Amino acid sequence: MEQAMMRFPQGFLWGTATSSHQVEGNNTNNDWWEWEKEPGHICGDHRSGLACDWWNRAEDDFDLAREMGQNAHRLSLEWSRIEPREGEWDDDAIARYRQMLAGLRERGLEPMVTLHHFTNPLWLVEKGGWETEAVVPLFERYVTKVAEELGDLVELWSVLNEPNVYAILSYAGGRWPPGKQNLLLAFRVLSNMLLAHGRAYQAIHRLQPRAKVGIAHAVRVFDPADPSSRLDRPAAWIPDYIFNRLVLIALIEGVLAFPLALNRKVPDLVDSADFLGINYYTRDMVAFDASHPGELFGRRFYPEGAEMSDGGYGEVYPEGLYRLLKRLAAYDKPIYITENGLPDEDDDQRPRFILTHLAAMHRAIEEGVPVKGYFHWSLVDNFEWAEGWTLRFGLIALNVETQERTVRRGGQLYGEICHANAITQDMVRRYAPEVLDKIFPG
Ligand code: FCB
Repeated sequence: MEQAMMRFPQGFLWGTATSSHQVEGNNTNNDWWEWEKEPGHICGDHRSGLACDWWNRAEDDFDLAREMGQNAHRLSLEWSRIEPREGEWDDDAIARYRQMLAGLRERGLEPMVTLHHFTNPLWLVEKGGWETEAVVPLFERYVTKVAEELGDLVELWSVLNEPNVYAILSYAGGRWPPGKQNLLLAFRVLSNMLLAHGRAYQAIHRLQPRAKVGIAHAVRVFDPADPSSRLDRPAAWIPDYIFNRLVLIALIEGVLAFPLALNRKVPDLVDSADFLGINYYTRDMVAFDASHPGELFGRRFYPEGAEMSDGGYGEVYPEGLYRLLKRLAAYDKPIYITENGLPDEDDDQRPRFILTHLAAMHRAIEEGVPVKGYFHWSLVDNFEWAEGWTLRFGLIALNVETQERTVRRGGQLYGEICHANAITQDMVRRYAPEVLDKIFPG
């Protein structure tokens, strides 16, 4: 009997995602490097240090990605390396990125390139970072330089990574540099980032008319604690609007909607995404709570009895990926899952996580949602921002001291899926038999 199979579309991109500061090592010229020096900022006072030493040996991990059958990789460029001082370009850094991008291509890995993934050059921070609109032409100049120098090697650009997360954690939550706690400022930062996206979109297209330019947008599910409650419903609607929808309204309609601005129309932003990239991790339940004005009257929690990933990172909720993909289909754009993964050092959940999330994605594809690729976060354990080295997201485990790599079972499974461009019953039986009935009912 032929075994049941879940096939993915031909030409589907299978990859992983990384970001410069988290993997390169010795990114001494950006705000995170400075932030990490201050005791108390990072769990266990960890430092990014040499990280995964990609500046010297990214190619070793590209080899592993190729062996796993991946055909794409999403990485980011470090602005503080490319433009170490305002208006000065570092030719060696640009040459190193050319080498990495060419190295990906030689291995059959299609690069997707992010131009801003949370870190900022120190000179930019001194000028106020993303707090004023002055950043917009500076970002545009950097993006233009990059597209001129590297554009022949890159067709897929996810310009910004998670501007919503960056604005909130750095300017409202205060856990990330510059550690401010000012919601109005966070909205201003988000506006400036979106304006910068619009300019970057136009700049790349001027140089590369056929490039595909989009975003890696963090999306979460926000469900009302009690769906019939007239208070919980709006309490869940508000974070959904602010976190998920503001960015999409900007990139599709070209409007900075309230509370970013009073519906300011920005011509550069109109239809400024050739694809939508989404980073999906988890969902929040939201209950109305008058005592939480700072959280816009929503108390957020995880459902009782839910499966949680390591370190309280969040609920494992594959259905959320399906639900969000169905919603995004309304925008009628190609979709990439630019990040999805979980912290799981002992890998007891990762194989099941991968299978159930990919099955959710497959269901959406079968129902017509144009998902073109999936990038698992991440290829190898890396420096997880304020959590330091305490959360391990890698398909490959990293020993930070020795730089030794060990492919986890989750990585082996992912490799089998990439090679087959499919999930088979046999894979589910071997890696996570407990979800066999869920994935292949009957
Ligand atoms: C995302 C970030 C990425 C990584 C994962 C776990 O929000 O884009 O850098 O930290 O979460």
